Amino acid sequence: MYKVFISEEKIKERVIELGKEISDQYHGEQVVVVVLLRGSFMFAADLVRAIDGDVIVDFMVVSSYQGMETSGEVRIYKDLAENIHDRHVLIVEDIVDTGLTLTKILEVLKSRNPKSLETCSLLSKPSRRIKEVAIKYVGFTIEDKFVIGYGLDLDQKYRQLPYIAEMTH
Ligand code: IMP
Repeated sequence: MYKVFISEEKIKERVIELGKEISDQYHGEQVVVVVLLRGSFMFAADLVRAIDGDVIVDFMVVSSYQGMETSGEVRIYKDLAENIHDRHVLIVEDIVDTGLTLTKILEVLKSRNPKSLETCSLLSKPSRRIKEVAIKYVGFTIEDKFVIGYGLDLDQKYRQLPYIAEMTH
């Protein structure tokens, strides 16, 4: 069982704001948007449409979660197609929970010497952090609850919901 936690309208408004902030930061310079799959696919699709500028979209498939608990291990199943050396890179994540995934991805991408490396996450659960990680653009800061929808899953289900919901069961 689940109920709406962040509505479609609220998400839309916030994504537009984030898009404006991001457009202002890069003012015309090209940015490689790194979409962390699978969870970020819906957010990233809306976010890039809200960015006014020169955007290249690339994908990584990473995974750290099994069911509702983190395993603490981050695996890269698919790497980027783009060479990010000397380019502006913006990582787009669905949710930062323990911070382990983003920390690992930042480490991996930093070693490729991008011109700049920034992060954007739709959601952040700071009370769950194991690794402190700087997130430049945060959509919504939420308390410690398991959320689904708008790309986020529970055992691969519910990703297609157009809003963010919380599990109630
Ligand atoms: P972290 O490595 O603990 O920060 O976890 C990041 C990843 O865990 C996210 O990209 C999600 O895939 C998953 N995750 C963390 N919290 C939730 C949640 O509340 N719902 C669904 N997935 C979550």
